[in-house]
Amino acid sequence: MSGNLIFDTRNMEGFVEGSELDSLSAEVKRAHELLYGRRGPGKEFLGWMDLPEKYNEAFISEVRDAASSLSGNSDVIVVIGIGGSYLGAKALIDAVCPIEAREKIIFSGYNLSGEELEDLLAGLKEKDFSINVISKSGTTTESAIAFRALESLLIEKYGKDEAKKRIACTTDRNKGALREISERKGYRSFEIPDDVGGRFSVLTPVGLFPAAAAGVDIGELLSGAMAQKESMSVSDPEKNPASLYAAIRNILWRKGKVIEVFSVFDGFLRNTAEWWKQLFGESEGKNGRGIFPAGCVFSTDLHSMGQLIQDGNRNIFETFLMVEKSASELEVPFSEDDTDGLNYISGMRVDDVNRKAYEATARAHFSGGVPNSTIRIEERSAFCMGQLFYFFETAVALSAYISGVNPFNQPGVETYKKEMFRLLGKDGIN
Ligand code: PA5
Repeated sequence: MSGNLIFDTRNMEGFVEGSELDSLSAEVKRAHELLYGRRGPGKEFLGWMDLPEKYNEAFISEVRDAASSLSGNSDVIVVIGIGGSYLGAKALIDAVCPIEAREKIIFSGYNLSGEELEDLLAGLKEKDFSINVISKSGTTTESAIAFRALESLLIEKYGKDEAKKRIACTTDRNKGALREISERKGYRSFEIPDDVGGRFSVLTPVGLFPAAAAGVDIGELLSGAMAQKESMSVSDPEKNPASLYAAIRNILWRKGKVIEVFSVFDGFLRNTAEWWKQLFGESEGKNGRGIFPAGCVFSTDLHSMGQLIQDGNRNIFETFLMVEKSASELEVPFSEDDTDGLNYISGMRVDDVNRKAYEATARAHFSGGVPNSTIRIEERSAFCMGQLFYFFETAVALSAYISGVNPFNQPGVETYKKEMFRLLGKDGIN
């Protein structure tokens, strides 16, 4: 367990006025009513709201046991999926797991690079491995191609009977090719609820199974989500950080701040930014609306994107994600000759230097005309990641309702697929 998630808006001063928040309050209230009254656009996909309490201890143990039996006989588990079917698990594992676990769970099926897939297949020849294939529709080209190739290698290596024990499918309860394959071949399977869309599915077996295989305490993850849920049931932005975040984003967007940079100060959170990008991009970017979600990992990207953020087109606002506690005691070493002039900070924890870099960046960007806010979680733990996932899922739903779009569909994603299928000569597409 760990403390509350905090949404700090200090550096919005002068960019978002109290009067603007007051003017938007009726729209925020309406968005909240649409969401919690379950009567807004896409209301058939609100199952994510109930996930923190949906799964009982028996189910959590079943997922844990299945994941650890796969993990127990494997050097590597390959998780196959794309978009919402991998980004949450990747974000979570990178954020909370030690290096051995991060190296054990390998992701595939999230692009169409033949060279990359071949490289993975070659690397797996000498390793004991298992597969968790994830696809709600069961027909996604990227993950289906990767599964064909990896399943073949698994069968070639172990034979059909042993391969069967090394495959877990996560898919729709009744329909789709992957459901059919799992039933016909007798593969173990987990269900993605009908009423949960891909990018909102991290707290279903889509995220729970790979996380459990990596040793994440998935009970704590769900408890964190539950705690966050309980703290956000009122619409008032003064009491509900998700309402406030949604309101501020809409106020800024209406003033021409059309790009949001999500900035972290820790490589472990790089994929949290990737998950966040999908959640906001796919949920809000429709009908000519939407804020472009960009991600930065600082201080690395201060040496590449810092100039543009500080001094470029003033169409940007920024949201930092900070972790309050660090478990690292690593200090800046003392040097006898001090040639690099760093002795003034010798003995200081490297993570405290990092924190100063954050404080300096937030101030500098604010003074350069980039309004910014900070989401603070207490530590890199399953509980805090549960809080964070639930916070953002609620916030994006409210934000999309305020801007007048359905957060739960993604009609635009089909266009490239149709064009690709036409070029590939798929039957029935012309
Ligand atoms: O958010 C979404 O719905 C998408 O990103 C999907 O998760 C992604 O396209 C993968 O779909 P599927 O799980 O059906 O393979």
